[in-house]
Amino acid sequence: MTDSANPRGLIYAQPMGDTPVSGLNGGRFLFATALLGAGVAISQFGSNGVEQAMICFAAGLVAIVAMADLSSPAKHNPQAAAPIREPEIKPISQHRDFTSFIDGLADPVLVLTGTNVRRANSAARKLLGEYCVGEDVRLVIRHPAAADLLVDTSAAAEGPIQLVGIGSRDQRWEMLVRDMPGGERILHLWDRSGVYAVERMRTDFVANASHELRTPLASIKGFIETLEDNEAGADPETRARFLNVMFREANRMQKLIDDLISLSRIEAEKFRVPDTPVDLPELMREVQTVLRHSHPERGADIVLDIGPDLPPLRGDRTQLSQLLHNLVSNSMKYGQAGTPVTMRLRSSRNGALVRLSVSDCGEGIAPEHLPRLTERFYRVDSSRSRAIGGTGLGLSIVKHIVERHRGRLEIDSEVQRGTTMTITLPADPRTPQIDGSGPNPDLTVPA
Ligand SMILES: Nc1ncnc2c1ncn2[C@@H]1O[C@H](COP(=O)(O)OP(=O)(O)O)[C@@H](O)[C@H]1O
Ligand SMILES: [Mg+2]
Repeated sequence: MTDSANPRGLIYAQPMGDTPVSGLNGGRFLFATALLGAGVAISQFGSNGVEQAMICFAAGLVAIVAMADLSSPAKHNPQAAAPIREPEIKPISQHRDFTSFIDGLADPVLVLTGTNVRRANSAARKLLGEYCVGEDVRLVIRHPAAADLLVDTSAAAEGPIQLVGIGSRDQRWEMLVRDMPGGERILHLWDRSGVYAVERMRTDFVANASHELRTPLASIKGFIETLEDNEAGADPETRARFLNVMFREANRMQKLIDDLISLSRIEAEKFRVPDTPVDLPELMREVQTVLRHSHPERGADIVLDIGPDLPPLRGDRTQLSQLLHNLVSNSMKYGQAGTPVTMRLRSSRNGALVRLSVSDCGEGIAPEHLPRLTERFYRVDSSRSRAIGGTGLGLSIVKHIVERHRGRLEIDSEVQRGTTMTITLPADPRTPQIDGSGPNPDLTVPA
């Protein structure tokens, strides 16, 4: 048997040595020497030589015994004669670098002996308590789904199990327990909350989008059925009224689909930094003109306030136009009729940033809604938004455009006073200057 039988080299065995064989060979050599010595003595000393020969022969035999004794594996290498046995394998937690290794992991890791917590890395201590070491793991992770796995060592090979509510109430974890050499078990927790949230957002989004499309579709179908009725369909006034509603609902569906497509396009381009030169003041004037034509009554209230010394700007013109349309349309819709809707543009002192804002005087937004406004389909008043042609996607699109330009969106609002949406953009998104850590004196933008 050789060491190569165990790649980890944990089993020690006598290597296939040649010592005993060479010992025997040495013995035969001495035996032959003794015989030769005896022969020489007889030939030299005649009958007297028999005595000498016997002495030589005896000396040779003694030498053989001595050689055999010396070459005996037991005496030559006491280990070699011992039966092959597996040495004790050190528990994994006793490895010299084990603590620094598990402390370097971001996920919580426990080392268990039976159900006792032997070691806990810093992430585990932070999650389960500083004093979890030495405790019974069932008291440390008090979770019905985990209990079986923690007690039943044969269940450890099964796949991970889901745990909810460890740490904070909504946190979702996956837990895996695995046997380690040396009789210990490793318990590994990893946070799946982010994955779960994304998955939930995706299903919510599909449900919301379907709901938003189904409502106008149901309405259009209802009107078609009514118009098919000979009596109602024959009346020109009813017919005109119904067709008008159908047209409006179809427009709503189209607007929703357009916004959904925009959103997915912007998201798809998220990591491609926009770098085309854009004349933002010219774009602002264009948006003002377009909205004045499309909404003559409210469009007249749009005011431009463009500051001096603006730096050349890079970005995605189509997306910045969409951003302005969405913000100004909101101010026109939710601001009070007859009050100004102001588009303002300023440069930072060093010209690295621009600040673009859209303000209105109107109903404003209550503080509890502010954090959720950029969520898809979130509205303060859904039925009102729908009634005035809103999709609930406008601010979500704005947020994604701002993110793609490496900028920042701030919403200031006061109920019954009005709202200001401010976007801070780096003049060149390829060299962003915004870190979100508060005002930087060099980059201050005058109000
Ligand atoms: N300037 C504003 N003043 C008051 N409320 C606003 C303003 N802008 C947006 N909101 C609120 O934010 C919600 C989300 O806006 P948005 O995403 O553009 O969707 P919508 O299609 O409803 O306009 C709106 O429904 C409205 O309740
Ligand atoms: Mg809107």
